[in-house]
Amino acid sequence: MSAEPDYRQSHCQPGKGESYHAAFSKNPYRRMVWEMEQEILVRILEDHLAGRRLLHLDFACGTGRILRFMAGRAAESTGVDVSPAMLAVARRENPAAEIVEADLTRNDVLGTRLFDLITAFRFFPNAQPELRRDVIAVLRRHLSPQGILVFNNHRNPAALRPRLAKWIGRRGNPGMGMDEAGKLVAEAGLDIRAVHPLCVFPVAERYPVLPVSWLRRIEDWARRHPRLGPFGENQILVCGRPPGTGGSTDKTP
Ligand SMILES: C[S@@+](CC[C@H](N)C(=O)[O-])C[C@H]1O[C@@H](n2cnc3c(N)ncnc32)[C@H](O)[C@@H]1O
Repeated sequence: MSAEPDYRQSHCQPGKGESYHAAFSKNPYRRMVWEMEQEILVRILEDHLAGRRLLHLDFACGTGRILRFMAGRAAESTGVDVSPAMLAVARRENPAAEIVEADLTRNDVLGTRLFDLITAFRFFPNAQPELRRDVIAVLRRHLSPQGILVFNNHRNPAALRPRLAKWIGRRGNPGMGMDEAGKLVAEAGLDIRAVHPLCVFPVAERYPVLPVSWLRRIEDWARRHPRLGPFGENQILVCGRPPGTGGSTDKTP
């Protein structure tokens, strides 16, 4: 048996939902990153799903920030998570969304339902490898033929900050390399259609060192220089079924 902690339990303690939710408004750097993530999500919707009536699933929805972003953009949104503490906040913040407490790797509560957009943020690099594989297999099953899966890898070890941390002897979560992310996607029978990097400048969320307004300008500059993309600590991936397997003919790189 593995001694590795099971990520399923990570956010279940009472009060976790409130503290997690507050961090997105209280921590200036996290707030800035969430603003950039929303800008990228707008672009992804335009590039891959424009003009479509969207059924949306947010896997590991937590306190529901992605559900809230999708309100008015999706025809229907469903959030699924295992943590009652996180879901209590998600329900309060998203009265119109369907919120389901479940672990889809153990309980097939969504049956044969298909979704045009499946999102999974701040989940994959935190989860243990076995859970990552089980989850992406379930998400693929719920992806409509022309649908897309959008998830982020916010712990890219090739980024400058984790490299510097390793260099000074700090050991933290090893994260998930982009090669591992690619393998995970390929083994689930999906293709990567686009990757949107962010968080190139190496700062720790709790000690951003520079004013956030400066960091935002640096990040905007970095986004105009694709060669810096691999150094983004947070990478947003857009995936779909390969052409010829009932998937999209979309050729976005
Ligand atoms: C860091 S939070 C991310 C929440 C949200 N997606 C966001 O980006 O703000 C990770 C979430 O994954 C959930 N989780 C962990 N294992 C899960 C599983 N097997 N099924 C559903 N949710 C799970 C946790 O309960 C937690 O709410």
